[in-house]
Amino acid sequence: MIVLDKNISLTSPDEEEKTLRPKKLHDYIGQEDIKEMLEVFIKASIKRDESLDHMLLYGPPGLGKTTLAMITANELNKNIKITNGASLEKTGDLVSLLSTLEEGDVLFIDEIHRLPRVLEEVLYSAMEDYVIDIVIGKEEETRSLRIDLPPFTLIGATTRFGDISSPLRDRFGVVFRLKYYTLKELEKIGERTARLYGNDYEFESIKILSKRSRGTPRIINRLFRRVRDYADIKNNSLISVNITQEALKKLGISDEGLNETDFRYLKSLIQNFNGGPVGVISLATSISEEVTTVEDVYEPYLIKKGFISRTSRGRIANEKAYKVLGINYYTGFIKQ
Ligand code: ADE
Repeated sequence: MIVLDKNISLTSPDEEEKTLRPKKLHDYIGQEDIKEMLEVFIKASIKRDESLDHMLLYGPPGLGKTTLAMITANELNKNIKITNGASLEKTGDLVSLLSTLEEGDVLFIDEIHRLPRVLEEVLYSAMEDYVIDIVIGKEEETRSLRIDLPPFTLIGATTRFGDISSPLRDRFGVVFRLKYYTLKELEKIGERTARLYGNDYEFESIKILSKRSRGTPRIINRLFRRVRDYADIKNNSLISVNITQEALKKLGISDEGLNETDFRYLKSLIQNFNGGPVGVISLATSISEEVTTVEDVYEPYLIKKGFISRTSRGRIANEKAYKVLGINYYTGFIKQ
């Protein structure tokens, strides 16, 4: 059973994404090393009838951390409770969630780096000894109360490994870093999505979508849905190369998967800050984006693809960034 914390609401693209999520490890494409180890850990915990060790998943957004947590609970045949570090504010929020857990259940905390420090401390004893100590009452009347918990598995997910305090990090027995997906893996995911939606497709279209998906399953599925809209209305539901290219053009997605925000970022870096070095705060402000969004969502891919570099003095645009914008790297002139 999947229970979402009351503070989490799923918007409709997430709902759709949910229906595409594989339910079993066997159906999960990519992250082969993680899958192989996870399978062993799950089997061992079932064989010994013990709860699975706490697990921390980190990596850029959209690579399947939530999916892996759901699959883990499913393979263990246990419930999963899903929450987000940012939506837990008071000790009571976490205590009430922890006290609903049954033996072997999975508690998934997404964006665990956003968990307030006081709640992190509640987690320490919960993770280590399956107990929580809470203080009740006021002033001289305070009493400390110990609540026993059943053995459970905490799965934490984060895009910011460096923001997790070391006492919390040390309490995870298993730490996995999710990697960007290869083109082949994305193609398999794209084909699977096409099958699930029941659309006929030309394989070349899936290849085109894979190339523009920034190594990220969530993006290939999102692009697929937009192309599918065009195909359903204009092409008898066939995902053809022509309709794919038409949709991508309308969406403003470049050959390398850069979107409108990436272009604004690169333009600002080059035109407002002379190609850098510039601090991320100034850069994010100039394009009206949150610093964390820029750092977690946009920059990892721009760095990976060599458009920009992150230096100790700030961000700098590389030659490739000038090229994609049609600006001469040496003169700064816009090419005709
Ligand atoms: N859908 C989203 N991510 C997936 C993955 N890794 N494997 C299969 N289907 C997916």
